Amino acid sequence: MNILAVESSCDETSVAIVKDGKEVLSHVVLSQIDIHKVFGGVVPEIASRNHVVHMTRVFDEAIKKSNLSIDDIDLVAVTQGPGLIGSLLVGINAATAFAFAHQKKIIGVNHLIGHIYAANIEHEMKFPALALLVSGGHTELLYIKDHMDIKMLGTTLDDAVGEAYDKVARTLGLSYPGGPIIDKLSLEGSETYALPRSYLDKEAFNFSFSGLKSAVINLVHNANQKGETIRVNDMCKSFQESVLDVLVHKTKHAASIFDVKQVILAGGVAANRGLRARIKSEIIDKEILIPSMEYCTDNAAMIGVAAYFQFKKEGAHSNYLLSGLSTIPFDMMENE
Ligand code: KG4
Ligand code: ZN
Repeated sequence: MNILAVESSCDETSVAIVKDGKEVLSHVVLSQIDIHKVFGGVVPEIASRNHVVHMTRVFDEAIKKSNLSIDDIDLVAVTQGPGLIGSLLVGINAATAFAFAHQKKIIGVNHLIGHIYAANIEHEMKFPALALLVSGGHTELLYIKDHMDIKMLGTTLDDAVGEAYDKVARTLGLSYPGGPIIDKLSLEGSETYALPRSYLDKEAFNFSFSGLKSAVINLVHNANQKGETIRVNDMCKSFQESVLDVLVHKTKHAASIFDVKQVILAGGVAANRGLRARIKSEIIDKEILIPSMEYCTDNAAMIGVAAYFQFKKEGAHSNYLLSGLSTIPFDMMENE
């Protein structure tokens, strides 16, 4: 089954064609990072306008690179949410127009489930599994009982981890997106600043990163007032270690109490070298699945993979009236 998938939930315009929930036949991602960089973050209106400008070209390129004809495409999939509503609507309208014009079925996919299914491209997902989903908008620990049977164990009570990275980077005068820059600079720094670890309850699975972010901002402001310089590399390392201690502790704890076969790391922050290394070295009794960098950040290939398993379970419910959803709640895991 060949699925043409579209992703436009934030600032990446992406179209991919994926065979049988695994084989990526083509994959085109057009990033708008350079456009938003000057503003220090994604400007929603500018993002949606740029999706409009580039979407058709990205569609054409993905179809051409796949060496398939339009007749070979069995299903159209598109990110339905969560995300920036204007951006989502551009992808949804493009996917719907394509599906309608070529009389294909269309299916709406949850962006976060897409991030998890990125793990199936280069590996084989096995269940039950645990997923730590860390991105610019999300920090979730999820229990995956089987395909498309996902319950939430915990989430952030305030900032998402990627958002904290981006804001700390901005405070330190670093460019956008801050995550990769902090990750790189922390390799050259030492943990010399004492920053808090927000475990909340060590046994529970919710997260909080706003206190840590405020601690960095306060240290930087105090130093500025005293005319002292901040050692940026050391601050990056101290911040990163504080984040990783919490993420790794909670993931390890969940992996120890739920009988899972695999631990999946997903989302843009899963590109973090420190996080990848620590999850692998500290969770030694489970198989660890981490997508390669290109499938960690936003991309349509992961949407094509998730769509395949969603279609197998539910069929293509959606009609040509698919609408965007800025938020989609996850079912919480019941105490069993
Ligand atoms: O999944 P994604 O591409 O978009 C969302 O759905 O949010 O994630 C983007 C986020 C940004 O906050 C970015 O700073 C962060 O992922 N990120 C990283 C790294 N690479 C990207 N954070 C930490 N370390 C990295 N290496
Ligand atoms: Zn994402």
